[in-house]
Amino acid sequence: MHIHKYEKWWLTFGAAMLIAFLVIVGVSAFHGGTHPNNSKWTINYEKVDEIAPFDNPGVHKVEGKDWDYEVVLVASAFSYNPMEIEIPVGSKVRFIATTKDVIHGFEVAGTNINFMLEPGYVSEKITTVDKVGEYVIVCNEYCGTGHAMMYSTLKVVD
Ligand code: CUA
Repeated sequence: MHIHKYEKWWLTFGAAMLIAFLVIVGVSAFHGGTHPNNSKWTINYEKVDEIAPFDNPGVHKVEGKDWDYEVVLVASAFSYNPMEIEIPVGSKVRFIATTKDVIHGFEVAGTNINFMLEPGYVSEKITTVDKVGEYVIVCNEYCGTGHAMMYSTLKVVD
């Protein structure tokens, strides 16, 4: 007599569980998935060129800080500004990077520097470059037709 009632209850329960599951997946994807690694602060990506320090990309020697150099880097489809980075070996460097348009990557091959650059977020890392050499910087996030041509160079010099 009551079987029909129980079936209905189970259907409702099943549907509720499905919704709960989808919400959990959606919420955790939103919270965990949209924040790039090394992201410390946010920025209006449409005004990157006007906002310090990105109004002055490049390698800057700094005084009175825990690091010796700041490398300010702006990615856009399909290049990096600056195109080439040169740093003396043994320097402690703060890399600060963002993107002006779509998601890009910033991976210095052979090092622990590997950012995902997402519009609106600034990624940072302080690291010491302790090996002389020329390192290839590649975009490791697919960003469009010019993705494969998007690279730059880090020169660590004596
Ligand atoms: Cu920029 Cu791929």
